[in-house]
Amino acid sequence: MERTFLMVKPDGVQRGLIGRIISRFEDKGFKLVAGKLVQISSIQAQTHYAEHEGKPFFGELVDFITSGPVFAMVWEGDDVIALSRLVIGKTKVTEALPGTIRGDFAAHTPFNLIHGSDGPESAEREIANFFEAQELLGYSKNL
Ligand code: CMP
Repeated sequence: MERTFLMVKPDGVQRGLIGRIISRFEDKGFKLVAGKLVQISSIQAQTHYAEHEGKPFFGELVDFITSGPVFAMVWEGDDVIALSRLVIGKTKVTEALPGTIRGDFAAHTPFNLIHGSDGPESAEREIANFFEAQELLGYSKNL
């Protein structure tokens, strides 16, 4: 069983897409184990996007992600990291296929609505950047 960190970005919150985005992952059969609306600090944003530090868009990315509340989540399921990235769609909106969240709702690349961890190490690091261990709820999901 795997866990991933997913985050509805400020554009998704402002456009009222939190519910529809959550539905995509519920429909897929994944289990929500944590979720909260948070205004993240610049330091927290820089930690989250540490792998992009030095890239030309880094400053713009930090400004964008701190521009308003985000909805941070932890989801659980078999292969949830890879499968949730398929549900999300490609980073560049011109490559995001219809049927994916970005393909259906995003029209400008920096404003691509949602972040998803790209591997087990980043998932662990990103979850720890947003959640205390006791905020992750273990419960059985049989239906
Ligand atoms: P995300 O999945 O959150 O991971 C890194 C983010 O960097 C990505 O989504 C985009 O929002 C952003 N990003 C990637 N490439 C570019 C780019 N060329 N210009 C602006 N933002 C970018």
